[in-house]
Order: sequence, then C-alpha cells, then structure tokens
Amino acid sequence: MTKKMTTKVTIEAVIFDLDGVVVYTDEYHSRGWRRLCDDQGWRFPEEVSDQLRGVSRMESLQIILDSNGVSATGEEKEEMAHRKNEYYKTYLQEVDESALVPGAVDCIRELRRRGVLIGLGSASKNALTVLRGLGIEELFDQAVTGLDITRSKPDPQVFTLGGQRLGVSPERCAVFEDAVSGVEAANAAGMISVGFGPTQGLDQAGADLLVPDYAWLDIDAFLAGTLWS
Ligand code: BG6
Ligand code: MG
Repeated sequence: MTKKMTTKVTIEAVIFDLDGVVVYTDEYHSRGWRRLCDDQGWRFPEEVSDQLRGVSRMESLQIILDSNGVSATGEEKEEMAHRKNEYYKTYLQEVDESALVPGAVDCIRELRRRGVLIGLGSASKNALTVLRGLGIEELFDQAVTGLDITRSKPDPQVFTLGGQRLGVSPERCAVFEDAVSGVEAANAAGMISVGFGPTQGLDQAGADLLVPDYAWLDIDAFLAGTLWS
C-alpha cells in the first residue's frame, strides 16, 4: 500500500494520457514503427512495442535501434523518425469515433459534471491534431503535449506542468496512464496514479489503482477515494 492510499484524498483534477487511454492511437504508433522496421529489415516484437508507450519519438527510435543491435547517425535517425511520423499521420486520417477508447468521453463528461478539472498529459507532438480531428478538444481544460515538454516520461514534467496550468496541487491530481513510464511519471509528480488498461507491469510500476476499462470505474467511489481505501 502506498502512502497516498492510506490518506483520504480529494481529487480536483484528472489528467489523461492520450494514446491508449482516450484514443487507441497507440495501435497506430505501433503500426508506424512496424512499417519502418519492415522497411529496414528489423524485428519489432510485441515487448518492444509495449516499451514505446509514453516514450518520445526519438527515444522510441533509439529503443528499436538498440533492440536490433543497430547504430545510426544523427541524420539517419532524424530521417527515420520523420518517416515513421509520416506513416503515423497517414494512419491518423483513418481515425474516427470508432478509435475512441470505449467509455473515455463519458467518463470525462461525468467528471466535468462533478466539477473536476480535466487535463491532457501526452508525450505526443500530434496530440492536439488527434483531439481536434475527433472534435473532443473542448473536453480538456488544459492540454500539455510533446510540444510543451523537454523531458519524457518517466520524468514528471508533463504532469507537473499540467497540474500547474490547471492550478491544482499535485496531491489533488489523478493521472490515467496506460504506460509504465507514465505511471512512474505520475508517481514522481506526487499525483495519484491510475494504471489503465491491459499493459503488463503497471502494478509493479507502482500504480495506486488499476482500472482495466472505463466500465469497471465507479466515478463516485473513485472521487470519494473508496476504491483504494
Ligand atoms: C506517446 C505515445 O503518447 O507519444 C508514444 O505513447 C509516442 O508511443 C509518443 O512515441 C510521441 O508521439 P509523437 O506523435 O510525438 O511521435
Ligand atoms: Mg499512452
């Protein structure tokens, strides 16, 4: 049991990761990397794909290079990261409401109805394009994206900045994350960490609460703090 779980908390803000928590764009990121690996004749096993959750574009490429025992110049890395992003942006054109994680929008609306502030905390530089494409940008009071940060999860910067922009102290913020690095970042920010979805290792990463899907989540119990008491 973590120290956060032993004390009563009042949640005033919830910060959502985007890819894999609000929209299944995590699958499109994977497709983009897989295509790049196919181009290059490299392996892209499932466990490597999971390691890329929450990780910036250039760091993701480095993980792929390392897992294949390949080195590249700075210029080559820039080209490959750019190529993957072009693939990803092509896939984004297919994204419609069917790519929304079931229950995500309802959960956000219910939280808003109860006066909870909503933030976005995403490592993706494409995050606002995704929100706008789906017409859900207005559900978020503040959005911090890959364009705003200099340090990737598990560094807490994305969430710390989000809490500051929302005007809510860290211990009153909860973070929904599907990535091990994201749960670690939320904990490092001193926020309540909710490990969302089926990713392996969220528990071991120190998630305060594991939420398999939105249907499981009782929002009143969550806000009352009784889910982890
Ligand atoms: C995160 C994804 O949200 O954004 C990662 O989980 C992705 O898989 C990262 O690499 C950066 O995204 P982008 O769109 O800036 O390349
Ligand atoms: Mg994610």
